[in-house]
Amino acid sequence: MSHPHGSDVARARISAQSARLVGDEPAIARAHFIAEADPYRPGLRPAGYLNLGTAENRLVWDLLAGWFTPDAANAFRATESDLRYAPLHGEPGLREAIAAHLTPVCGAPVDPDHLIVVSGATAALDLAATVLCDPGDAIVVPAPFYGAFTTDLTGRSGARLIPAPMPAADDFRLRPSLVDDVIRAARADGARVRAIALTSPTNPVGGVHDTATMKELQDVAAVNGVDIIADEIYAQSVFGPTPFVSAVDPSLGADGRARTHVIWGFAKDFGLPGLKVGVLYTQDTEVAAAARALAYFAPVSTHTQALLRAMLTDPVWVTGFLTESRSRLLRSYEGAAGALRAHGIPFVEAEAGFSIWVDLRAWLGGTAGSGPWQAEQALWHRLFTEARVSMLPGEVFAAAEPGWFRLCHTTDPLVVGEAVARTARLLAGEAPIAGAASIDSRE
Ligand SMILES: Cc1ncc(COP(=O)(O)O)c(C=O)c1O
Repeated sequence: MSHPHGSDVARARISAQSARLVGDEPAIARAHFIAEADPYRPGLRPAGYLNLGTAENRLVWDLLAGWFTPDAANAFRATESDLRYAPLHGEPGLREAIAAHLTPVCGAPVDPDHLIVVSGATAALDLAATVLCDPGDAIVVPAPFYGAFTTDLTGRSGARLIPAPMPAADDFRLRPSLVDDVIRAARADGARVRAIALTSPTNPVGGVHDTATMKELQDVAAVNGVDIIADEIYAQSVFGPTPFVSAVDPSLGADGRARTHVIWGFAKDFGLPGLKVGVLYTQDTEVAAAARALAYFAPVSTHTQALLRAMLTDPVWVTGFLTESRSRLLRSYEGAAGALRAHGIPFVEAEAGFSIWVDLRAWLGGTAGSGPWQAEQALWHRLFTEARVSMLPGEVFAAAEPGWFRLCHTTDPLVVGEAVARTARLLAGEAPIAGAASIDSRE
């Protein structure tokens, strides 16, 4: 577009591509920080916020503290050599330690040269999509799915996501035949489908895909000639009866392994989200080489890498930590599930992860002239401002139908119990915060 004073004058201060990537910060993203700034404290701040919107495991700090507390016996102390420049896709000692750690998880030896360590699983997802996809390529994703896939898999790569909705009637369990249908329909529509991306175990539902399902998914990928991006960040956070099987486990058949790219990280299984350390594991040498080069843009501090290497090379500590963490996850899940049941709020039974997929469809209501997704937004807003409970609505997770909410339970059980009680009171039309007559609505 021409401008009387020249195009430089007319230009916005930020580029079109950064405007596309940044967008407006949604109210839902702000909710986390608002809730964290004024938290509920029994007795002290009874009307404070209850943040069940963030998938952090806040139940294991006492088990981790020794590594981070300077005067503790097993505190980590870096040496000068730990703090030098290291390969930007991960220091060799840490990659060896991660390879040894992931070998039993993946069911076969993991080659450290096929690991790319970057700043978070977020960065690893971005690497995988950017290496595999050209702008306009499509990635089919069983829905509901981890909401940040929308940014992580498309932001830099320019790919687009096509949801493959899994049926609510079957508790959103993965049905590879439906993924197949969506790939075929998308192709018939002219889409260039390059990959399937999924969480395994699933976020938000907390499901674990069994071996037969994963085999079938590999078959679907092979028949359609697409890759699989398997986000296995919750691999060792399984507390239910279905054993986890990695998308690269040889028991699924050898064919798909080379075209399956696994994402893992320390945020969930090790309860260390703030360290932002993630991994891409790919057996495709070309993909690995391209990802190694792109890791330049998202390396991890060598101090953090040295600490994690020390942690992983203490197998007694790792085994004890993971065992205790899983038993705390189970207890936390059972507590939250019991509270939901006691208040008559339906949900999908979970076997893994930090969250419960809660069914509030019966309480959507809706105001004249507004659509069902507005009704979900309105219920989210009431929960946040009137009950001061933060839970993310299903639209964030590409739910096919409004009314589902993700409740993250891995925090103080008092907070979870109070949040479920307040939610139930709000749904029943009662004042949600006991003893507080009116609360300012500030979003
Ligand atoms: C499925 C999944 N993948 C990736 C991430 C992000 O991991 P990181 O904090 O290591 O970037 C999360 C965090 O919520 C997640 O749930």
